[in-house]
This record gives sequence, C-alpha cells and structure tokens, in this order.
Amino acid sequence: MKLTSEQKKFVEDIMSKMTLEEKVGQLNQESPSIVGGFDVPFEELIEMLTDGRISQEEFGKIMATAEREYHEDDIRAGMVGAMMGNDPVKANELQKIAVEESRLGIPLLIGFDVIHGLRSVYPIAIAEAGTFDDELFERTAQMAAKESRAHGINWNYAPMLDVARDSRWGRVSEGPGEDTFLGSRFARAKIKGLQNNNENVTDYVAACTKHYVAYSACEAGRDYNTTTMSTSQLYNVYLPTFKAAMEEGACSAMASFNDLNGVPCTVNSYTLRDILKGEFGLEGFVVSDANGIRECVTHGIAEDNVDAGIQAMNAGLDMDMGTRIYHDHMVQAVKDGKVSMETLDDAVRRILSVKVWLGLFENPYVDEATIAAYKNAIPAEHVALCEEAAEKSIVLLKNEGNILPIKKDTKFTLVGELADRADEVVGAWALGWEREDCVSVKAGLEKAGAKFEYYPVCGPESELNQDELKEAIESDNDIVIAVVGEYNSMSGEASSKADITIPGKQREMLSKLKAAGKTVIAVLMNGRPLALGWEAENIPAIIEGWHLGITMGDALTKVIFGEVNPSGKLASTFSSVNGQEPLYYNHPNTGRPGSKSKFTSKYLDAPVEPCFPFGYGLSYTNFEYSDLKLEETAEEIKASFTLKNTGDVAGTEVAQLYMQDVTASLVRPVKELRNYARVALAAGESKQLTLSLRKCDMGFYNNQGKYVLEDGLFRIYVGGNSRDCMMEEVRIKF
Ligand code: BGC
Repeated sequence: MKLTSEQKKFVEDIMSKMTLEEKVGQLNQESPSIVGGFDVPFEELIEMLTDGRISQEEFGKIMATAEREYHEDDIRAGMVGAMMGNDPVKANELQKIAVEESRLGIPLLIGFDVIHGLRSVYPIAIAEAGTFDDELFERTAQMAAKESRAHGINWNYAPMLDVARDSRWGRVSEGPGEDTFLGSRFARAKIKGLQNNNENVTDYVAACTKHYVAYSACEAGRDYNTTTMSTSQLYNVYLPTFKAAMEEGACSAMASFNDLNGVPCTVNSYTLRDILKGEFGLEGFVVSDANGIRECVTHGIAEDNVDAGIQAMNAGLDMDMGTRIYHDHMVQAVKDGKVSMETLDDAVRRILSVKVWLGLFENPYVDEATIAAYKNAIPAEHVALCEEAAEKSIVLLKNEGNILPIKKDTKFTLVGELADRADEVVGAWALGWEREDCVSVKAGLEKAGAKFEYYPVCGPESELNQDELKEAIESDNDIVIAVVGEYNSMSGEASSKADITIPGKQREMLSKLKAAGKTVIAVLMNGRPLALGWEAENIPAIIEGWHLGITMGDALTKVIFGEVNPSGKLASTFSSVNGQEPLYYNHPNTGRPGSKSKFTSKYLDAPVEPCFPFGYGLSYTNFEYSDLKLEETAEEIKASFTLKNTGDVAGTEVAQLYMQDVTASLVRPVKELRNYARVALAAGESKQLTLSLRKCDMGFYNNQGKYVLEDGLFRIYVGGNSRDCMMEEVRIKF
C-alpha cells in the first residue's frame, strides 16, 4: 500500500476537520447485532451455540426471524469506521449513510472472512499450499478479491498466515501449513492477488494478515491458549510470513487472541509497534480480533474495559473489532491524557489511508449490474479456477500395486456418509457458499458416469449401519471407495482435538471392509493432518482430498479415473499416532537423535518418524532424481540436477530444495525448505533443472532478533519430499 502525496494530503485535510469523537469513530468496527429477543452481538450468539446455551435448531430459528441492527445512527454520527458483512445491497445502503449523511462523508470499510473464496469456494489453505504453486495462490486470491468487491466487501480478513506445527489445533486448516518459507511465498502471492489488481477499482481489496502473532503456537494445540517462545523462534518461525506480507504492502493486520510470553498480542507494543509497524513498516492499521480488547480483562492484564482499551490503544492496536470499548471510552481517555492525541491521530491516519488507497471516497458503492451478475450464479471461469485448484491440491498418499487410477467401466462400491454431503466439501471458513454450487464425491462420480453402488454405512459421528455394511460386503464389487474424514466443523476456530485419528466408527468400517477381502481405497475429507498410522499400514490406497471447495466431487472423480494425475504435496507432516504432535520436519537436532539405541530422543510406544513427511505426495508415474551438483556464485548456490519421469504417463512433480546449516551459534533445524518448483514431465521425459538458494536466505535470526549469516558447512538437499533427498555439501564464506 503506497499513497501518493496528493492522497496523503487528502487524509490530512480530512483529519484537520475531524472532531475528537469523529476520530474515535473511525477506530470502531461494528457487526450487525441480532435484535429482538436476542440483543447480543453475533459473536456471542455463535458462542451460545458453541457452548450449548442454545441448540442448532434454536439458532436457526433466531437467524431466520431475527432482525439485524446495522448501527445506522452511529454511522450517521460518524462513530463507525468499519462494518462486517457480505450483502452488497446492505453494503450500499450503509455506505450511502456514511457518505451522504455523516458530516464528513467518510466511507466504511466493510470486512469479511473470505479465507478460501466467497461463493466460489476453493480448497482450504493448507490444501492449496500443498500445490506449491505461487501463481495459483495469486490467481485464487484475485478471484476472491473480485467476488468480495462485488458483494460490497472491501477488506478481507485474509490471508491467514499462521505457520502451524500442531495438527491438534483446528485452525491449521486456514493457513499455509507448517513451513515458514512456503508460508512466506504463499503470503506474498496472496497479498499480490488480493491487493494489486488496482487497474480496476472493483477488483481489489485491502488484505488483513492474521493472526498476529504466534497464535498457532498455542500450548497443547488448544485454541486461544498461551504461547511461550524464544526471540529466535519468534523471528525464525512465526514472524517471517507477516514480514513477507508487509514487504508486499499488506494494508492491515489482525492482532491474535493469545498471549505471547505473557503479554496478550492485543496489547503487545513490542510485537505491534516495535516489530510490525517499526521493523516491518506496516503503513496501514492493526485491528483486534473479535472481542480481543475485552478479553484482556479475562487474561488478567487489564482491570476493566477502560483499562484494556487504553492499553490496547497505547500498544498500537488501531481498530476495535466488536467490543465498542474504543467507541465508549476513548474520547474520555484522550481528554484524561491516558491516550495522547498523537497516538489517536496515528491510528486514524492509518485507517483513513487504507480507505483512500482503496478508492472508497470515489467509489464507495457496488454497481447494480455487478450485484445482478452475481445474484444467480458464479462466473464459469471462477468454477474452473476452483476446480484447477482442487485438482492440484489432491495428494496421493499411498497406491499399493497401482490400484489407482481405476478404469471408468470398473464397477465399485462407494461407502461413507461424507461421500454424499455436498455441504461438507467447503471447509471450515466458507461463509458465502451456496449448496447448489457444491459437488459431493458421489455427485461427481455420477456426473462422470461411474458404475457404483452406494451405502453410507457411517460418517464422522454416526454409528455403523450394520445392514448397509453387510450390503457393501456382500456386493460382488471387489473395489470399495470409502470417503472418510471430518466434517467442516471439526477443524477451524475453536475446533482443537486431542484425538486426530479418523473420527468415530469410520476406521472400524474400513477395517471390516478390509477383513471381508475388499480392496479398499480411502478418500479422505478433512481439515487437518490426521494421524494415519493404522490406515497407512492397512489400506492399500489413500487419497488426501482435504476440503477442496465447491468442485470437490469433480476433482476427485478425475483423479480416481486418472484423467488428472495427482501432483499435490503435503504442506504439513502427518503423524502416525496422536501423541507425536506437534510433529514437523524442520525441527532442531537433539544431541541424541532418535535411533534404535535406548537413550535417544524417541517414544517407547510410537515411532519418532512421521507417517507421511512434509512435502510428500505420489503420482501415477514415478520421478527419479539424479546428478545433484552445486555451483556457488556471488549471490547464490545453484543446485542443478536431473529429474526424470520414469513411468508411462505424464505427470507434474514438485521438486524441493532444502538446506541445513550444519554448525551454527544456535542449534538449527535438520532441514529447511529454501526453494521449490513445479515441473511438468511427459512420460519418459527428463529435464536438467536448477533450483537456486539465495545466500541471503541462508542465515537465521538470533536471540536478539538480529538476522545473521554465519560462515561454515551447509548441506543442500534436493528431492520430492522433505525425507527422500539427494545431498551435497558446500562450505560458505559470506
Ligand atoms: C477469528 C478471526 C476472524 C474474526 C472475524 C474471529 O473469531 O479469530 O479469524 O477474522 O473472528 O470473523
């Protein structure tokens, strides 16, 4: 986000006309409140549903009948800076009040969670990250931005950039996986896609990077939990994705709920002022997460709401999402000298700058033609892009005896309740989808003319239906495709799990089918890496299908029949059993790496190795890596190698380059991803490839938060996943 000098002057001009109240108004983000019998904020209503105070049915009734209060009077009085919502007609109405009826005519930011698509829902982020396709990351973000703007949304609470190493944490689904380097490339591409399409004012939005920071490091994988870490870990693992986003000019950031080393990120001036705004140069603003300011009282860091508001404001938290604490108390806090006018002005300037950058003063409305165009259907090119992303995100985990792909005229049995759930393909953070757009696995197979019998048998929460199981077993079909995994609601916010194996009776279903002599192909639908030790050992073919979005059924059908050769890789390590979590490939070396010998770092009752490593994914062909050679130039190490498709079908491989800093002043990870490329190869084709490792990427942050490049021995690895690599050594003097 860069403002011209005229735009900066425009901001200053407005500020010079603003009253204290109007300035505070800009810091206030509202959501529509549900009125009637339930005059509580929407977030609270969701909480009531989640904690069981109201049932799903009651919730549905309230939502169907409840009127929403959009705080029109506050908007008119200039006391609202941003709203939440995705209804373009309502957005226009509210913008009209802000622009035409408030004294200074300042338009609203309208924010919404468009994490992996609005109506055109594409794969959840952890799945999309596994395509290792930066250009795709950018194109899907562009599509999301365009659809957002068509729905009145000009500010996306995305991308979610939390590097997540613990699969118990439900929010692993929303982010780019466990690797900081991949996450940083993902961050750059997403910011470009969301923000940089500014030839056309209707096609771009302000991004809101979240959750800043280290939210994913929550102890025991439990959402919102405390985080503790060294400066070096913070800088090496959790900050770089945000740094990358800021370098691309991200407009805003959302402070996370967690405390970091004892200080909630909402009131953390070290992370907000010193690092984000200081070191990383955020020019836009920071918003709290929903109710985050009030929660500082519960954390025990503020005595009351007023105190929490003052602490947050002074720490550099510019906008209050959802509590009205700034709205209610900031005028007095400034009058009392608890918050300086300078601090207030800085926050207001940042928020107004984003509005100016977005062109909202000139173009606050969604035009009628655009609203009409999106009313009935989504553009065909959006569906096509969702499908491309879905196809590329599918990961083939196991394919014993090349069971897959199956021939189109093969008769098979389909089981698993999830196979027929069009509403369960979209993933945890999809809010704008329409059921009619969604293709279940069963529907995808039907569309393709597959010959199968279907028995639901069981789902993530149901009992085994013995009659259906019996029919599946007694059927003449040898092959059984079993769609198993998690509901959308089993990952995402507030969805941490202590048991990350395939839930319910689904494993029992797999086991019974196998025991009956069936050839079982497991198709997984899930939002988190699952602990798959049993399946990896017992099921001959496994496809990781994640929650792939609206075209899930079509994409999986093409993979099952071999029309698409899978090319996705895992953006996160998969454990064998629960107790291995958190498990990630780029861990530091211990003095006693796990081995057969007793006194080494391992478990007595579980493997120390992952079930499937980071970067892993098979294809219907085989790739052979050879001839790794390193060449050093002034700026980089060039790793050249030969990659050959040794099979008889075309395929795409994600070649990966890792490094290890063998000796350093701090213990470094055993491997760190530093480059990758998607390479398409015809059957039998081989290519000479070079992946570069920039010397400036060979350092690390020390415990003073300083980036250091230390001379010495490095190992360079190249391969198709983080485990199976060729290796060469190089000694570097920087
Ligand atoms: C989540 C955020 C989200 C916000 C607004 C919060 O509960 O943590 O990720 O952007 O709600 O919906």
